Order: sequence, then structure tokens, then C-alpha cells
Amino acid sequence: MSIRLGDEAPNFTAATTEGTIDFHEWKGDSWAILFSHPKDFTPVCTTELGTVARLKDEFDRRDVKVVGLSVDPLDSHVEWADDIAETQGQALNFPLIADHDRVVSDLYDLIHPNANDTLTVRSVFVIGPDNKVKLTLTYPASTGRNFDEILRVVDSLQLTAQHQVATPADWQQGGDVIIVPAVSDEDAAARYPDGWRADKPYLRWVPQPQD
Ligand code: BEZ
Repeated sequence: MSIRLGDEAPNFTAATTEGTIDFHEWKGDSWAILFSHPKDFTPVCTTELGTVARLKDEFDRRDVKVVGLSVDPLDSHVEWADDIAETQGQALNFPLIADHDRVVSDLYDLIHPNANDTLTVRSVFVIGPDNKVKLTLTYPASTGRNFDEILRVVDSLQLTAQHQVATPADWQQGGDVIIVPAVSDEDAAARYPDGWRADKPYLRWVPQPQD
């Protein structure tokens, strides 16, 4: 069964490179990113894991816990970790789930048999403090993901959660944001005493709120 936005992120217990975790317990009240990669000792995956490890401070700053996954066994992950450190100039600094029994892959629908019936796809789930799924995406095995884009989505999600604003196409930190349609002009006036710019009654802009 596929996972849709707003669904509760299924819980599981799994062996990882940092010991066995109960996912919900490990995550606690933080945000989390669960991402799958197709296979250990493959080139694109090696670059992805190095990139995520290099971004650890950025995830920490946003209170996001990151966990990776593939169906390879734990000893394979451990051996591959040496290659990642050697070739990416950065050691792994987050857990990698060894899902050899496919329990988590089945829960999160990570094997797409019409693409490949043994490898996990490149999926990403961003999960909120309420354990609800806020973003899903799936890339083909041949395309490495842009993790700066995933950080950008986390920033947008966290702004929405705190300030009831949405972010426009290609928004970047510091850019103007949109007052969500659910906020009436009356409520917006209380919230934004300096006013807003309206291109249309439904397209209202304010500077990015700072918290
Ligand atoms: C890779 O990570 O390079 C890869 C993994 C599986 C299939 C194709 C490429």
C-alpha cells in the first residue's frame, strides 16, 4: 500500500548501522527524513550518502533526524561505509537501515516491481513532529537526488507549520511568501499590521516571517 501525504508514517523496528531502532521512539518529536537507495556499492548511491552526511549540520539546525535504507544486509552497509568515507571525504553520520527482510520496504512501498523487483527505489519521506507524512518523492535509480531541494522543502514546511504561509515556485530562504487562502483578510490584518501586497485577492505577499 502506498503512503500518501497526511498518512501516519508506519512504525517499525529495524537493525541499522547505529544499532536497532524503534522508528517512532528514535524520531521522538523531531522532524525526520527516511530515504531509500537502491543498492550498496553502487556509484550514484555512494555520492548521495556522502552528500547527506555532509549536510548533517543543516539537518540538525532544522531538528531533522535522517535515516537511510536499502535491502542490503548490515555487514554490507558497514563495509560500504568505508568506501563512502574514502571517496566522499565524509564518513556516514546517520543510521542506515538494513532491510534484508523487506519489512520496512513493504510498509513504505519501496520496491516497484515494474522498475526492478529486487532493488529499492530512491524515495524520500519527510515526516513531521506529529509523525504525519509531509512529502513523498521517488526518483529512478539513475538519477541522484538534490538534497538542497529537500532542505528547501523542509524550510517551507516548517514556515507553514509556524506561520500559516506558503512558499511560491522556486522560493529560497529570505524570499517573499504567500498568505495561505485559509487566512481571511481580517485575520491577515491582525497578523501583518504593516499590510501585504496583493496581486489578486487570493495572491497576497508578505516578507518571510522571522521567528
Ligand atoms: C547507482 O547508485 O549508481 C545505481 C544503483 C542501482 C541501479 C543503477 C544505479
